[in-house]
Amino acid sequence: MNLRDYEWERVSVAYSTVDGIRLILDQIDLVLRRGEWLALVGRNGSGKSTLAKVAAGLLPISAGRIELGWVEQATVRMVLQNPEAQLIGETVEEDLTFTLEIIGLTGAELERRLGVALQAVGLERLRYAAVAELSGGQKQLLAIAGCIASEAQLIVFDEATSMLDPLARERLLETASQLHASGVAIVWVTHEMEELAGADRVIALDQGRVEYEGNVRRFFYADATGRRGESACERLGLALPFAIEAVAELGAQGVELPEQPLTGAELLAQLEVMLR
Ligand SMILES: Nc1ncnc2c1ncn2[C@@H]1O[C@H](COP(=O)(O)OP(=O)(O)OP(=O)(O)O)[C@@H](O)[C@H]1O
Ligand SMILES: [Mg+2]
Repeated sequence: MNLRDYEWERVSVAYSTVDGIRLILDQIDLVLRRGEWLALVGRNGSGKSTLAKVAAGLLPISAGRIELGWVEQATVRMVLQNPEAQLIGETVEEDLTFTLEIIGLTGAELERRLGVALQAVGLERLRYAAVAELSGGQKQLLAIAGCIASEAQLIVFDEATSMLDPLARERLLETASQLHASGVAIVWVTHEMEELAGADRVIALDQGRVEYEGNVRRFFYADATGRRGESACERLGLALPFAIEAVAELGAQGVELPEQPLTGAELLAQLEVMLR
């Protein structure tokens, strides 16, 4: 087993346009460990999808070096924003069957994997349903079922929740969390800062460069006092999650919390202790 990291050194992606060469990714250094959850954020056009495609092996680089490490032997899959773009079957079962046949599976093993995948995403009851009749959220779950059936060890999600309602979004995040808990590495591209809470690490891009790399808490909190406007998240023009906004508001009112919460649930737990 290859245990070396998936490592990028000064990776650039450029396109030639009518105005000349445009750098979309500008000398990116990046490490992705086996089983890690890496969140990728940044404003529109900052290069997230481009980075995601390179990470999934779908786009060649213009300069730099990529050491595949553990990814060399791994199955890598990508889940896109628009679920229609990646489903190929008429029915749920047919879609998964095609996905598995493409990688050379048949018979009992195909049947086993199909069952495991449907169960993992909770679509067993829709096995014979027409893909066209699924909701957006169900289509995304089907796309993930394809990744699970392929036994992917790295799944790149590019704004996979952006077309979903809050419930479907939660369900998808939960499914991804379970995959992560079972050892699958996740690259999670999102505009929703609320979705970062479970990530091991965050990378924020701005104009094709890495402007922040580190843990989630430090991304949202400038310092221990949580002063406004100074966190990496705010400097990059991204909206803070509600819970962290609330902490800043509380701070302005003179209410100091014992710890820095990341989610509404964590904030509530601390307030409950304080009010006891
Ligand atoms: N094939 C291409 N040719 C030329 N320019 C491109 C090409 N693909 C992407 N770009 C440009 O590269 C930049 C980064 O695009 P990318 O899709 O990676 O950004 P993004 O961070 O995913 O944005 P969004 O949040 O809107 O999804 C954009 O300015 C885009 O116009
Ligand atoms: Mg994008």
